[in-house]
Amino acid sequence: MKTAFRSSSLPIAFLIAACAFLCVAQSRSVPTPQLVSKDVNARTEALLKKMTLEEKIGQLVSYSAGFATGPAASNLTYDELVAKGQVGSMLNVVGAEITNHYQHIAIEKSRLHIPVLFGLDVIHGDHTTFPIPLAVAASWDPEAAAIVARSGAVEARADGIDWVFSPMVDIARDPRWGRIVESNGEDPYLSNAMARAWVKGYQQDDLTKPDSVAACVKHFAAYGAAIAGRDYNATDMSEQTLRQVYLPPYQAAVEAGVATVMSAFNSINGIPATANPLTLTQILRKEWGFGGFVVSDWGAVGELMNHSIGDGPTVARKALEAGLDMDMEGNLFGTTLASQVRSGKIPESVIDEAVRRILRVKFAIGLFDHPYTTPGPAYEPTPERRASARKVADETMVLLKNDPVEGIGTLLPLTSKAKKIALIGPLADDARDLLGAWSAGDPKNVITLKQELSERLGDRLIYSVGCGPLAGVDEKILQTVTFGGSVAGNSSEPLPDDEKSIAEAVEAAKQSDVAILALGEPANWMEGEAASRVRLGFTGNQEKLLEAVASTGKPVILVVLSGRPLVLKWAAEHVPAIVQGWSPGIEAGPAVADILFGDVNPSAKLPSSFPRAVGQEPLYYAQLPTGRPARNVDLTHMPTNSEEKFVSRYVDEQNSALFPFGWGLSYTRFRYSKPTVSRAELPLQEALTSRAPLATVGVDVTNTGSVAGTEIVQLYIRNTEASVEQPVRELKGFTRIKLAPGETKHVTFPLDFDELSFYNVEVKRIVEATTYDIWVGGSSLADQEAELKVIE
Ligand code: NOJ
Repeated sequence: MKTAFRSSSLPIAFLIAACAFLCVAQSRSVPTPQLVSKDVNARTEALLKKMTLEEKIGQLVSYSAGFATGPAASNLTYDELVAKGQVGSMLNVVGAEITNHYQHIAIEKSRLHIPVLFGLDVIHGDHTTFPIPLAVAASWDPEAAAIVARSGAVEARADGIDWVFSPMVDIARDPRWGRIVESNGEDPYLSNAMARAWVKGYQQDDLTKPDSVAACVKHFAAYGAAIAGRDYNATDMSEQTLRQVYLPPYQAAVEAGVATVMSAFNSINGIPATANPLTLTQILRKEWGFGGFVVSDWGAVGELMNHSIGDGPTVARKALEAGLDMDMEGNLFGTTLASQVRSGKIPESVIDEAVRRILRVKFAIGLFDHPYTTPGPAYEPTPERRASARKVADETMVLLKNDPVEGIGTLLPLTSKAKKIALIGPLADDARDLLGAWSAGDPKNVITLKQELSERLGDRLIYSVGCGPLAGVDEKILQTVTFGGSVAGNSSEPLPDDEKSIAEAVEAAKQSDVAILALGEPANWMEGEAASRVRLGFTGNQEKLLEAVASTGKPVILVVLSGRPLVLKWAAEHVPAIVQGWSPGIEAGPAVADILFGDVNPSAKLPSSFPRAVGQEPLYYAQLPTGRPARNVDLTHMPTNSEEKFVSRYVDEQNSALFPFGWGLSYTRFRYSKPTVSRAELPLQEALTSRAPLATVGVDVTNTGSVAGTEIVQLYIRNTEASVEQPVRELKGFTRIKLAPGETKHVTFPLDFDELSFYNVEVKRIVEATTYDIWVGGSSLADQEAELKVIE
């Protein structure tokens, strides 16, 4: 891997001056361990003493001096502002040349030579684009997340980026919300593991390494709980739920040493997250000991005025005093804080504290010592990078269904018996959308499904686009909202005439032994930020296409390419084989083919429940109990008597997910033994005081099939009788194991305070004398059961 090293050219006089002021830390907060070295603190304090109020406030400001990733980018004379020391950070400025340009101005022309911090949304790799984060979560493999982050960090560094706006760890339980694509899905336990791995991948436990970048965990807090799944909407929940479900992944990132945090757009229980003292100061700093800095989201300080908490100067003050340190692309800090300090409204010490936190990060990542980026050749995905992108993508493909077809058996993996294969669908050859939302990669580097299958099958493959993914949407509108990508495919050709294309696709299927349909939603238009949907079907005429092809009677394999759970109800009832392929990145074609042809045995499991109907949303497995559970009531039809009616249900749909959390099939089968618990009873006192594993759950898992496979073994618990109702199931352990045919492995899971505790009515995290039901298995439907009692 190529590593970009920063060259040192800070004026010597400045370095000597900084070193001369070595002194003991004066920070009021308890910083994250990585940011508290004596050297970092001493240099920060020395510099702070020399700064004017304007220079201090300059550090609290960040501008997008490049492309826009929000409503409207600032359009200022950046050279001049940087020279005056009034720009702490810039975002969306990419490449050694342009970042060095601004850095030279900062170092050579600004009075105190403070370097600019360059930030960018590096979300799932950079030029080498890996699968979207939701897909990476489907691997249930933290190591995979670390690989993606590492690759992104190395490539971002070469582009002059020191700071990445990742990981996004918002718990997302409603796929109407487009940003579920960037998340780890619905579960805090899985998200915690992923959050830690992303941070480690970016920062490597050593921010000073030339190929480490400062990570930024976002969006703090509870952004994913936007009411009705509508982006930027308010969130409202009990503090128990906030702390037990939504906050843990951010905390996991802080514990992993994340250098920065981004505040969220939403309000939380009536207080905007960007001016929220409970989350930004009490929880983040006082309870978790976070020592880095907090940046707002794009323009979010200014948007506080829409939250109706005051005029410009007031909202800026409120945000700062609540614990926000940097104003991203808003400039309210830049224009309103100085006068408020001078008039005595804001103590200068509050400004100092924010500056201190920002400077500490700049020192800790070595920015003062190595402010420039050595220009190098543009990054192209090398064979090694491609190999790791493919390996990760292989681990993310979820085999949702693989039912036998009469006279054929299971369709997957594909055998050479299928002489002619039809590949149909608008996403089969759509490089831009296969990269996924928020991707920096170049579509020309993507190997599409069509390219890969043509390579493998030669003239055994018949390809037909079938329809456009967005048919029916005004193309002119699309061109204005896409981030530079095309709409219907690789080219800027107009959308195809769907009726004709569907007829052609049906013809292609008729000439084949099996049809592979590559359908989904266009990543560039309908996924990610500001892309909430109320309909979660395939976009455009794709469902029609699917139904038309299926009606030929030819066996159909459906590959779903989407950044969120879609409603696959018709498909699940009519299509024998379904693979959830997400947006797989540059190695899309090879990774999908690996699964289809059985070169790789699928192992991924859903990080998010797939609904039967949108009306079930928010749908997640860890539901709270109800006094009228549906239990054994048959929910597949309308209620016909009072026993069927007066239970917690829908009259027109089942309660359960179509494909539940943790679900994913393999080309082999796994058998689970009954789990055992190392002890039947646990004294409460021990549970409250000991931090050692309190009990261990063990299970034997056997590969009963004829091929090797990887199983993700999952442990769920239910805390019954607790003083505050606990979910009917919660994930509390998982591990990936590889098993040869016939092989058995014994797996153990520790249960300690972290797994057993919950928040009581006083919002204290405790364990009580209760009984835990325990299940182990291959999904959230796990049925192998055990029990642990906590006794007084
Ligand atoms: C807005 C998004 O919410 C955030 O995730 C992103 O990092 C910033 N814009 C910067 O692009």
